[in-house]
Amino acid sequence: MEPTTRGTWGSKLGFILAATGSAIGLGNIWRYPYVTGQNGGAAFVLMYLACVLAIGIPVLIAELSMGRHTTLNPVGAFKKLSRSRSWPVVGYLGVATGVFILSFYAVIAGWTIAFIFRTLLHSTTSFSDFLADPYSQLFYFAVFLGLTLFVVLGGVEKGIERWSKILMPMLLVILLGLIAFALTLPGASVGVQFYLNPDFSKITGSTILAALGQAFFSLSLGMGTMITYGSYLSKKDNVVTSAVAVGFSDTLIAVLAGLVIFPALFSAGLEPSQGPGLVFNVLPTIFEQMPAGTFVGVLFFVLLAIAALTSTVSLLEVPVAFLVDQKGWSRAKAVWIISALVFVVGIPSALSLGASAGLTSFEIFGQTGFLNMMNFLFGDVSLPLGGFFFSIFVGWVWTTRKASEELSLGAESSSKFLLAIWGVLLRFVCPVVILVVLGQKLFGF
Ligand code: TRP
Repeated sequence: MEPTTRGTWGSKLGFILAATGSAIGLGNIWRYPYVTGQNGGAAFVLMYLACVLAIGIPVLIAELSMGRHTTLNPVGAFKKLSRSRSWPVVGYLGVATGVFILSFYAVIAGWTIAFIFRTLLHSTTSFSDFLADPYSQLFYFAVFLGLTLFVVLGGVEKGIERWSKILMPMLLVILLGLIAFALTLPGASVGVQFYLNPDFSKITGSTILAALGQAFFSLSLGMGTMITYGSYLSKKDNVVTSAVAVGFSDTLIAVLAGLVIFPALFSAGLEPSQGPGLVFNVLPTIFEQMPAGTFVGVLFFVLLAIAALTSTVSLLEVPVAFLVDQKGWSRAKAVWIISALVFVVGIPSALSLGASAGLTSFEIFGQTGFLNMMNFLFGDVSLPLGGFFFSIFVGWVWTTRKASEELSLGAESSSKFLLAIWGVLLRFVCPVVILVVLGQKLFGF
């Protein structure tokens, strides 16, 4: 494919913003706090940070290098770099995972829109009644998917890049303000303690898998999003420093979100291990007590909705780029058909937090309800599994030597030393850790 017909980012900053836009989303503000809460707090946070540094960033660099080198989607990238018929399967797995993650992610993203109105109108409907109403759930899910479709129709540069430019700095500022306020709440210090003072006896195999899954989810790794985004990157850009910038800003936003949520949660006497509803239960308690709370609350949910949108866009972009590059579909056709599919696949998730008793309460793989099951299968299992194959592929099949040649383009300053560390992490640490953690969780060894 001609890179020119596929489009490239308008500037290097444009790429960093778009990749950061993909990474920063509900994963940081919704998923990270509740997973931290379920896994006992500070000790989990340390595991998470270790996973980001030792595994997340190396896999991020690997995905970006594959994408820029081939200028293709995940399936095309594997086909171009290897003769084997098996490797493209990893690309297909990524494309499918994109559809599945988007199917429940857009449900939660729909809540952010609903919460803009709930905050503005001081709605008295309880959160659980809202969740139990099938019409609201499907309505906001459809609205969010519609917004995503609209942006992706516009194409890479116009659609994706523009949104990311003002958002991140604003989100950072509002989070800092909320932290300052949350820390003044009565009883906040218990939350700080929970969040920052590790109790290592709480670390188990599931804690580590959750930390690994969260690192992949938050950095948008393991399904080829970053291959796809890297494919729009120019040869003049420095991939390694861009990856580090993306990883750092994503982690910063998550860690800050925790500093808002946990003090407020303990101050309000709520349960840290309550699961996916957590931040939507906690945040309103902050805005109620805060001066100008309605204004701050509305602004916050607007920003969160946009942050989620830059992420859903990157999820939809993977199957769309696949159909456009590999099957020759028009962008519009691919966008419409995939969105319709995502909607159908997402219906059970939308109804699984109260609207349908069966979908809400069934238990499987240690998860309760359909949405939690999807989140586990595609967030905690499929992404690390994809990351395992990416690290083997780039590390051993395409080889870090060739990948390093690609990575040195546009990177006069990035030292051989850094690339050497990257090679060791990618070839040895990533596959071994992922395999042990996944195997331990799934098969008990
Ligand atoms: N990283 C995003 C978030 O934290 C979600 C996301 C976007 C994603 N694209 C992805 C997750 C690809 C996994 C894979 O909200």
